[in-house]
Amino acid sequence: MANPNPKHGSISFRPHARLISILGDQLITNKWVGVIELVKNCYDADANRVSVRFLNFGIAGETPTIEIEDDGDGMTLDTILNVWMKPATPHKLNQKKSKQHRYTKKGRVMQGDKGVGRFAVYKLGNYVEIFTKTLSTPEVHLVLNFRQYSQDDEFATTERVPDKFLDEITNEWRENESPLQITNEERKGTLIRISDTRNDWRSEELEKLQVAFQRMIPPTIPTFREKFGKDFDVQLFWNDREYPKSRTSFEEIIELAPFRFQGEIDSRGVLDYKYKHNRDKEKTGQIDLFDESKVAKYDIWGFPMFREQFLEFVKTSNEGAIRIKKSDGSTYHRNRFWKIRRRPNAGPAKFFFYAFDWKDKHLELKDYERVFIRNNSVYLYRDFTRVYPYGERGVDWLSLSKLRAEDKAGRYFSYNDLLGFIFITQEKNPQLRDAASREGLVSINGAYEDFVALLQASLKIMKDFVDVDKQRDELRKDRIFTSASKKFHDSFERFQKQLIKSDDQETLKKAKAFVDTTNELVDQYKIKVSITEELAGLGMAVEKSSHDIFMMIRRMIENANDIVTRFEKNRLSAPTLRQFFADLTDNLDFLYQELQILSPFSGRLAKKRKRLV
Ligand SMILES: Nc1ncnc2c1ncn2[C@@H]1O[C@H](COP(=O)(O)OP(=O)(O)OP(=O)(O)O)[C@@H](O)[C@H]1O
Ligand SMILES: [Mg+2]
Repeated sequence: MANPNPKHGSISFRPHARLISILGDQLITNKWVGVIELVKNCYDADANRVSVRFLNFGIAGETPTIEIEDDGDGMTLDTILNVWMKPATPHKLNQKKSKQHRYTKKGRVMQGDKGVGRFAVYKLGNYVEIFTKTLSTPEVHLVLNFRQYSQDDEFATTERVPDKFLDEITNEWRENESPLQITNEERKGTLIRISDTRNDWRSEELEKLQVAFQRMIPPTIPTFREKFGKDFDVQLFWNDREYPKSRTSFEEIIELAPFRFQGEIDSRGVLDYKYKHNRDKEKTGQIDLFDESKVAKYDIWGFPMFREQFLEFVKTSNEGAIRIKKSDGSTYHRNRFWKIRRRPNAGPAKFFFYAFDWKDKHLELKDYERVFIRNNSVYLYRDFTRVYPYGERGVDWLSLSKLRAEDKAGRYFSYNDLLGFIFITQEKNPQLRDAASREGLVSINGAYEDFVALLQASLKIMKDFVDVDKQRDELRKDRIFTSASKKFHDSFERFQKQLIKSDDQETLKKAKAFVDTTNELVDQYKIKVSITEELAGLGMAVEKSSHDIFMMIRRMIENANDIVTRFEKNRLSAPTLRQFFADLTDNLDFLYQELQILSPFSGRLAKKRKRLV
């Protein structure tokens, strides 16, 4: 029977206090992100210096505490009460929307806008004290005790979880007429002190934070945004010891890169680029990534993602077929082809790519520089703020690893050889938005996939430039090699002369045989080097072996020189000479084997080419 008086009314949400802890856990992925979020707030507050201190960890009887202190603008009592204590405030978001406030006083683009970064404090510990002061207002001290809100791990204990409502818990604050903590020269700033910590920290783990701070803001790239000074410094402390800064920086490393490609893709997909190889003049140009005749050379339309996003395959009747003119003047009709379905939807982007060639002997990198290059790949910055986790090792966001595995590895860069910085803006790329989890971008109307496809295409163009230059380098190497083989020959002549003088017939005979064999091998190898193009087409295996041979011959020259010197100084003992010849025999054996693999006459090269290319 129908109720004659159905109830009705209106009601607001009234969350239980544990909503705070649930949000804190969900929004801030881990303890590292927690610290980084708090440091981002310091950046937004225009701080120059931040110090992040881990105190009393691992010291028995002491209370582990994390302190994050900055000399930024600080907060007034009103900000504490009406912004800090009111999560999800659209405070920064609204500032950003009104264009003149998109930037901080120092001209920084604000990193925050969600109004939830503050929950990072919960991720780090239960007991939180905030001291904050602006230049013109007194220090405010606020205390939060999250133990009142929920249990640390709600399932791990049999104790009842407090069932209080959020608005039933109050948090104490007071003003300190004379500041207790914010006593720096600037007379402003914020100190967040967190104890009753929720994680264990070990001093080695600070490395990860150090690296994250380094990557937070992009490098100063010459020719681009030169004004962008380093006015933000984060110091890390483990007790009273400062954790050392990284040994190298992006700025130093990109200076070492032999191949550089920078460009701007406009919103229609037209790329303006500058390419520079360290030995050559800069090349500049423009390529419309959607003009098939222009990009055919780079086979960009052959990219799976590019096709999927932008193209469609059409088959027409013979009447609809298009007439294609060949280079010899003849024509043919084509009635199946790829056609542009649409232009991209991701907005413009600027990029700076730096590539290294690990096989290049002239690339003199220190071990820690190599490690640095391997550990960094392609970073994305929106309004000069890093979008996490792009650029981290193992994040295949440009599908390069996937393409290398599924297609031909040689067609794509490996993240190991590549460093990159890509710049987008909130204003011009509104479709590339942050995921709420703060990890990566969400795709709105396929904009993210468009963006990746455009970057892949740009990288492919760069790769072609780089490959051509590497081949040129190979040819240069050939010249060096010729002079190397001459040195080899000369040093053996000297050796021979000395042996003749010494009248040691047995050694002389051996040495002669050795020189002849070696010369023969050297000549053979010279032929192989002259077919550089073929070698380059063979990919990794062969490149490695030609590199090995090159190294081996160098070593043989060095050894020979050494023996000659010793011989001249009368310091050559019979066992050393015996060892030398034994080594040479081994080396020659190795060279012989390697040359067999490379030999175009053996027929194996031809077979390999078919399989690989
Ligand atoms: N170190 C600080 N110095 C000055 N003000 C701060 C500081 N930390 C936080 N605030 C203030 O508290 C607010 C809350 O910070 P919170 O990180 O939660 O949000 P947000 O930075 O606005 O956005 P997001 O969630 O994207 O980080 C900030 O908008 C800022 O006004
Ligand atoms: Mg924030």
